[in-house]
Amino acid sequence: MSNDEFVQVASLANLPQGRCAAVAVADREILLCHTADGVFALDNLCTHGAARLCEGKLKGNRVLCPLHGAAFDVRDGSALSRPAVRGLASYRVKVTGDAIAIAVTD
Ligand code: FES
Repeated sequence: MSNDEFVQVASLANLPQGRCAAVAVADREILLCHTADGVFALDNLCTHGAARLCEGKLKGNRVLCPLHGAAFDVRDGSALSRPAVRGLASYRVKVTGDAIAIAVTD
């Protein structure tokens, strides 16, 4: 846990509320989602198959997989509906002014 380091990955200006975007950090592809509850960061790869969640839909605090429609809660990565049963890893987010930073733990 001591290796946590926040890395700036995006700006709020480029991620308006209701939008998602994929960013690459430390050899991982991470999904940023901006909802009414804030900005959240999750693994971008669905736990059910080889689908990139940035190509799915964001509905409130749920992101829907584009391939088979599984829903995940963007606030903690939990799987909300089948066919996905495993949740997504989630990462801490810090928003300072316009800057979005995330902490990826090794
Ligand atoms: S690949 Fe995401 S629900 Fe199947």
